[in-house]
Amino acid sequence: MKFTHALGFLGLGALSVHGQAALYAQCGGETWTGDTTCVSGATCEYQNDYYSQCVPTADASSTAATATASATPTSTCGATPPASAGKLTYAGVNIAGFDFGMDTSGDDTASSAYPPLTQYYGADGAGQMTHFVNDDKYNIFRLPVSWQFLTNNVITGTLNETNFAEYDALVQACLTTGASCIIDLHNYARWDGDIIGQGGPSNEVFAELWGNLAAYYATESKILFGVMNEPHDLPNITLWAETVQAAVTAIRQAGATTQYILLPGDNYTSAETFVSGGSAAALAAVTNPDGGITGLIMDVHKYLDSDNSGTSDTCVTNNIDDAWEPLSQWLRCNGRQALNTETGGGNTASCEEYICEQVDYQAENSDVILGYVGWAAGNFATDYVLSETPTDTNGTWTDQVLVSTCLSPAANGVVA
Ligand SMILES: *[C@@H]1O[C@H](CO)[C@@H](O)[C@H](O)[C@H]1NC(C)=O
Ligand SMILES: *[C@@H]1O[C@H](CO)[C@@H](O)[C@H](O)[C@H]1NC(C)=O
Ligand SMILES: *[C@@H]1O[C@H](CO)[C@@H](O)[C@H](O)[C@H]1NC(C)=O
Ligand SMILES: *[C@@H]1O[C@H](CO)[C@@H](O)[C@H](O)[C@H]1NC(C)=O
Repeated sequence: MKFTHALGFLGLGALSVHGQAALYAQCGGETWTGDTTCVSGATCEYQNDYYSQCVPTADASSTAATATASATPTSTCGATPPASAGKLTYAGVNIAGFDFGMDTSGDDTASSAYPPLTQYYGADGAGQMTHFVNDDKYNIFRLPVSWQFLTNNVITGTLNETNFAEYDALVQACLTTGASCIIDLHNYARWDGDIIGQGGPSNEVFAELWGNLAAYYATESKILFGVMNEPHDLPNITLWAETVQAAVTAIRQAGATTQYILLPGDNYTSAETFVSGGSAAALAAVTNPDGGITGLIMDVHKYLDSDNSGTSDTCVTNNIDDAWEPLSQWLRCNGRQALNTETGGGNTASCEEYICEQVDYQAENSDVILGYVGWAAGNFATDYVLSETPTDTNGTWTDQVLVSTCLSPAANGVVA
């Protein structure tokens, strides 16, 4: 399925002549004071009220008809990555365990958490991360945790000191490796069945939780804030965007002014339906307190099995035509970026083939796709269907085959 885009060809008039902005540079927007014309071969294109961008002028075959064609929506907006694309910013692994016990309904109890740290009788998550950085050249880890664990089963924004200290031990182990670390609130937009801001906990209490987490990590530049893992079956995506907005505002106001914040859409953050399902349009309205969108990154997941559930060891697609291509096009056309914080497959020949293709395509579109984070290591057993958990034999680590062939930056060479 090819995605065609009908937006973005408005506002081409009234450009003054100063210097010239580079291809893919900003060239307009309500508060923009820089160049508003583009270098030869590029055209300044309206993306939203805050952002216009220099995009390649329609190719030679259509140049003759430019005057009339520019008034007609076309499908070429954002179709071509810039020559500078090719190396992803991030590649990493989910270090799971603090989320264990969490159901897609948001049902969970604090006591189900299983810290992936030896001091709490779990797997050696710290050792895994050190290995992944040193031997595989990974540079990001996602650290899932349930809200119930952070507050010890109380619907509040106040962190339980005892439980948070355990989670923070994993965050600090991650930061110690020099990698970037995603705080992933793994609640499916819910608390025990009820949706945040739509019958469940209020946006205020959710924002208070994020404000407290952000205040704690405000000075850590390598922290990313993953607002929510896999929202799904949301009654109203506009209301959900308001919930996300409340979290973003709280994070910024707590002093975490520059770190990336990951914005999650509906349908389990499916990369495939992010645009068509309305999540993209709703989340595009979320801003920083200053009205800008700096550091606000779209959060998307995609598996490669037949039902996109990540439960089969057989992969059937590289997701390019149905997910990554239309998503990349929308992102580029709208001046946005995304991070693929969950993907993975079985340690099988079909998954090796398709994951390698997916990663290569993501790298070709690295201007808008920042990277990928595999699911999963940490406390998952080495025989778990999607296991990326390495084996430690007297200090010598051995990776799962999907990692060693496709996902490890040392193997694929496509991570900066
Ligand atoms: C924090 O959680 C622990 C369980 O890990 C519990 O024993 C303790 O009472 C909680 N603290 C507060 C202040 O509720
Ligand atoms: C979703 O919520 C918004 C904001 O309250 C409201 O304007 C809109 O009508 C709602 N949409 C639906 C389908 O209920
Ligand atoms: C959710 O996304 C999957 C693929 O990512 C798709 O197959 C499914 O139809 C989507 N469901 C909805 C309700 O959009
Ligand atoms: C690991 O080290 C122990 C103790 O030094 C030794 O007995 C064992 O044979 C080693 N195992 C392997 C697989 O090297």
